This record gives sequence, C-alpha cells and structure tokens, in this order.
Amino acid sequence: MRRKLLLGNWKMNKTSAEAKEFALASRDLVNLAHQNNIDIGVAPTYLSLATVKENADPKMIVAAQNVHFMDHGAYTGEISVPMLQEFGIDWVLIGHSERRAYDNETNQKCHDKMAVLLANNMVPVYCVGETLAQFEAGQTKEVVSSQIREGLADFTPEQVKRLVVAYEPVWSIGTGKNASTEIAQDVCGYIRSILRELFGEVAEEIRILYGGSVKPENIKAYLSCPDIDGGLVGGASLKIDSYSGLLTNIL
Ligand code: PGA
Repeated sequence: MRRKLLLGNWKMNKTSAEAKEFALASRDLVNLAHQNNIDIGVAPTYLSLATVKENADPKMIVAAQNVHFMDHGAYTGEISVPMLQEFGIDWVLIGHSERRAYDNETNQKCHDKMAVLLANNMVPVYCVGETLAQFEAGQTKEVVSSQIREGLADFTPEQVKRLVVAYEPVWSIGTGKNASTEIAQDVCGYIRSILRELFGEVAEEIRILYGGSVKPENIKAYLSCPDIDGGLVGGASLKIDSYSGLLTNIL
C-alpha cells in the first residue's frame, strides 16, 4: 500500500520569517496527516530550510528545491548534498519544469543529481511533464517516456524504491488550467508501466504525484485515481489555510 503524499513547492516565495510562521502554524496539521497515514511536507528556498526544519513538527518532510551533483568545488551559487545533510534535509525536488526551462536542467543532469541522492539514501522527487506545444502535438507520452528512461537510466530496483515521481504538465503549472483527472491518470498509469518495465514489481511501491494547479477543491479527484498517490502543489501550498484545505479534503 503506497502512503499518500502531499508536498508543497514554495518556489521563490517566503522570507525566512514567513517560512517560520508557516512552520509553527503547520504543527497540528502534520500530526493530523500522520494520524491518517498521509505524508506531508514543503519545499522552501535554501535559506528557509533550516528554520522550517527547526520550527515545524519533526514529521514534516522538508525538501530542497535543487542540489548540485558534486560534493564541493568551484560551482558558484550551488549547494551540495553534504550541505543539505548537515541540516537533516533528505528530500530534494529534481528537474522541476521551471529549472528545466530557465536553468538548462537536462534529463542527464537530473540523472546525475538523482544518482548522488540515491547513493546517500536521500529521496529525489523527479518532476516530469510536457510543454503546451508538446501536449498539442500529441507528444506527451513520448516526452515523459524519455524523461523517465534517461533520468533513471541504470538505477537498480533497490535504489528507486525511495524515489517519488511527479507528473506536472507544464501547461497546467500556475495557469489555473489543471489537467483533467482522465489525462492525469492516463499519464501517471503510463509512467508506472514504464517503471514496471524498467524495475519490475518495485514500480508498485513508487509514489507518483500529480502537480499543476492543484487546489483544495480538486485534489480529492486526483487522489481517487489508481495511479496518483499525492500532489505536488505550488500556489495553493503557500497559505496555511489553503494548505490545510488540501489535507483535510483528502482525509
Ligand atoms: P502550481 O505549481 O500548483 O502553482 O500550479 C505546481 C508546481 O509547479 O509544482
């Protein structure tokens, strides 16, 4: 049985003071989530990781939004795995479409980052999804297939057990145009079939999230799809009331 997972992606939002306020306000919610066998977390900016870790309930998953694949060195502006581990951060979003679009994050780069995370017993949340042009050209499955195959190339079933995959069609992110549950289930089911082909029965343990304009009003419909195990939520995870609504609507 896969545990449901609700993950907020704060992107470039919230000062450290605002993140602390949210973390304190989320304590009861995290307990409520756990009483109901739901994992819950947020991905703050690097500068707020420590404050969220310190002030939220210890069961809150705190994820970084990116990481470099080298341990240290001349990589100005980057952060490494040991630096995250020092703060007890063991979840990282990899290959979010905004990073693919603005920071040249290729499938190969995602692969290299995930290889380091998996070697360190950390949890990558690997984001995949097609652009509007690719969707309109009917290329969704082709795109998602190469993102999965190239990103996860040569990993072992034992390694990918911890992996989380997030399907986020780019045309639905921050646009209010969420994908229908039929589209979301179709693609998430397809992703699981590729995972099954690559890794065998472990595919049944890998959690697949849907992301893109998820809100308290629509989250329940996604989570009722057989291959959708949770949500990766941007805008609607920023305010505690709406974050709370996301959780209470899937209890
Ligand atoms: P959104 O963002 O919920 O604001 O559409 C989702 C994401 O980018 O993870």
